[in-house]
Amino acid sequence: MCGIVGYIGPRNAAEVVIKGLKKLEYRGYDSFGIAVSSDQISILKKGGRIQESFFNLNELNSGLVIGHTRWATHGIPNDTNAHPHSDCSNNIALVHNGIIENFLSLREDLLIRGHIFKSDTDTEVIVHLIEEFYNGDLLYAVRDVIPLLQGSFAILVIAKGEKRIIAARYKSPLVLGIGDGEVIAGSDVTPILDYTPDVIFLEDGDLVSIRAEGVVIENSHVIIERLVTCVDWSREDARKGGFDHFMQKEIFEQASVFSQAIRSVDYEALKTILSGVKEITVVGCGTSYHAGMIFRYLTEEFARIPVRVEFASEFKYSPPPLHGLLIALTQSGETADTLAAVEIAKNYECTTLAITNVLGSSITRVAKNTLFMRAGPEVSVAATKSFIAELAVLFCITDCLSEGELRTQSLDSAHKAIEDALLIDIDPAVDLLKNAGTVFFVGRGWYYPVSLEGALKLKEISYIHAESYAAGEMKHGPFALLSEETPVVAICVEGPTYSVMISNIKEVKARRAPVIAIGNKGDTDLCAVADVVVTIPDTPRVIQILTITVILQLLAYRTAVALGRDIDRPRNLAKSVTVE
Ligand code: AGP
Repeated sequence: MCGIVGYIGPRNAAEVVIKGLKKLEYRGYDSFGIAVSSDQISILKKGGRIQESFFNLNELNSGLVIGHTRWATHGIPNDTNAHPHSDCSNNIALVHNGIIENFLSLREDLLIRGHIFKSDTDTEVIVHLIEEFYNGDLLYAVRDVIPLLQGSFAILVIAKGEKRIIAARYKSPLVLGIGDGEVIAGSDVTPILDYTPDVIFLEDGDLVSIRAEGVVIENSHVIIERLVTCVDWSREDARKGGFDHFMQKEIFEQASVFSQAIRSVDYEALKTILSGVKEITVVGCGTSYHAGMIFRYLTEEFARIPVRVEFASEFKYSPPPLHGLLIALTQSGETADTLAAVEIAKNYECTTLAITNVLGSSITRVAKNTLFMRAGPEVSVAATKSFIAELAVLFCITDCLSEGELRTQSLDSAHKAIEDALLIDIDPAVDLLKNAGTVFFVGRGWYYPVSLEGALKLKEISYIHAESYAAGEMKHGPFALLSEETPVVAICVEGPTYSVMISNIKEVKARRAPVIAIGNKGDTDLCAVADVVVTIPDTPRVIQILTITVILQLLAYRTAVALGRDIDRPRNLAKSVTVE
């Protein structure tokens, strides 16, 4: 996910665009740049977070500029991979938010036809294609290129000698602010609201010619009108896309994040990494550790390959005898304990694979191989969409190791299942949790790590003490803590552990603890024993991991909101723990 901004009008366009990019940094911040149209196209760009001092605005006196702040997906964050990108003649410049999934084949063809590439990005293929079709009319050229692209894109393009911006939108957001004699384009409304509340939310397939005096929109070669909306959001609200918190926004992004992560895995590369693997060790911390635990249950069931999962912080001081493959799970790619574990693993006869969300992060330089989650920046301290993205990549690994066994569990149904789970009524459960002093989460099989993650979410954003146990363990001591003051969240869905979970719930009820059960629709036996039942959508067993995770995330979120907590920046925590 990246941020793009464009401006055309009477103001100092560079100043408008740079200010706008600062407001979009939550969408990506590993490199930045602008392209300025005057008697030629000038590109100024750099790796790292936006530095306004990098630009000398007095020298950038133009009324037409496009800009970009990057969240790298292809090509590490550095000066050359930063956007904007230009064609061979440097007469055309482009910024892009999205992923061009067929960029490798397009790049090969363009190289054969003599194009010189300056970067390792997927984006650069677009501007070279436009160059090929350009014959003095930028709109025509962009129109001819779009059908060649597969994937997602919101692009802004300018060309030497043309006083306009061409914009196109497909599966990546793009908004136009319609001012008086000026137009500002942005990935969302935040860079626009300083200048006008009147915006046009572009739709997929829209192709736009943007001039200071107005815009002409076409879709499927037909000129159309789009509604102009008056936006009264605050800028902060706008950054959250209308959600109340980044955590809520990121929870609701998970259906597309899961699908995007699954699509982005290069199965051929994965098969090479996994060839001959007979045992796997996984290291991670917190939520990433829980993802590793789920992976263990899945892989041992479907691929019959032994998997051990270690806290990275423990691994460092008591590394087990290592063989085969070590997988390091880390959203940030900067967690000190996980980095240290991979360094240690290098002293053993094993290969290392990192799964991370951040291109260019430290883990990518420490591990031998890296797979990316492509979840986009996760702003909230609480990991949500990155967990779902980790699971997506891990599901692909299990699927690869089990010769497609998991895919037969119809991973394709995950997108709709997650969307359905987001709509389930959890109010009665929240009412039970919000006044609790201690909450227990219990599950069996792969629902045990799911319950561990649910407990972590609740405690880290609501500050309610929460513990998770393998359900069978409760009677070996924790029962002593049960009372009518200690709600128990029990995952009791169809599968091999259903009956024993019903028994466990009865044992908990016998000790007067209220029970919130996560169960399947129409389960009258469960409704008879639990105080509250939250029902999940009907899906294959493996997909239940995702839907229950989403419900437990929302439980934690809604409980924390009810308690007035600082949702995105909970006390005592940091987004990335770069110390031991
Ligand atoms: C989870 O909500 C927390 N933010 C925390 O446990 C996190 O998962 C852990 O610090 C690991 O971070 P990483 O995935 O970036 O390595």
